Amino acid sequence: MTCVRPDNPASSDAARPIAVFDSGLGGLTVVRRILDRMPGEDVVYLGDSARVPYGIKSPETVREFALQDAAFLMQFDPKLLVVACNTASAVAIEALRENIPVPVVGVVEPAARQAATLAGDGDIGVIGTEGTIDSGAHAAALSRLGVQGEILAAAAPLLVPIVEEGRAQDDPIVLSVLTDYLHELQRKRAAVLILGCTHYPLLMRAIAKLMGPETVLLDPGAATAEAVADVLGELGLNSNRPSGTLRCHSTDNPQRFARVARRFLGRDVGDVIRVGTDELVAVRHKGVTS
Ligand code: DGL
Repeated sequence: MTCVRPDNPASSDAARPIAVFDSGLGGLTVVRRILDRMPGEDVVYLGDSARVPYGIKSPETVREFALQDAAFLMQFDPKLLVVACNTASAVAIEALRENIPVPVVGVVEPAARQAATLAGDGDIGVIGTEGTIDSGAHAAALSRLGVQGEILAAAAPLLVPIVEEGRAQDDPIVLSVLTDYLHELQRKRAAVLILGCTHYPLLMRAIAKLMGPETVLLDPGAATAEAVADVLGELGLNSNRPSGTLRCHSTDNPQRFARVARRFLGRDVGDVIRVGTDELVAVRHKGVTS
């Protein structure tokens, strides 16, 4: 694979792209929110489809993969890096901030901030991968924000393959899996439920039906897009063009990525460029800032 570099290396800082990575194509739910909020931004995306899922891997492995993903994306001279993967945000955000020379926005902190505002004194639920839930990252972020209510966390790993398979929200399998994962959260009547995995917003309607009207469902992608807009605004780096471009890379099976991606992004992703994981490793070892 040849790495596609920015077309105009002399472009102004505001015209530099936003880099986004995820363990696969799920992070396109976050890209969708970023482009809804800031349609003039260019986005360069990496989905590590060859090594998905991150959600069952050790924090050390996820951290190393995240640093490799970020190193690859730094070649596009981005103005900001978004960690769209909840698992990587939960376990690797500090390592990324220590190693990456641009602002890094993850999905956990913006979701926690919005949940804290919405929940008041009520309890906050979080569902995510095993890695995200085991990390306790949401509970830690909420406690830093002074949240007093109980934090109810549940791993819901089966939802990722169910969503990728394209099951309908009223499919009996979807409803039975959700009922199993959500019954404790339902019983405790959480005020807010953070959908702490890239794939879960695609089950928003089914989850809302089970949780009932008392629980507000929080899509971290929307909260993250706001956080990105805030950081770019503070730095004076908002693009002022009417529309931007999206360039997607995948470490495996770009055809499948392009086919399934439509459901996550809400439109076609165009051509997907394949990049080998060996290239990610090589770029990381060369040094992320070089
Ligand atoms: N993208 C991951 C997340 O948001 C879900 C898929 C995986 O386990 O890699 O945590």
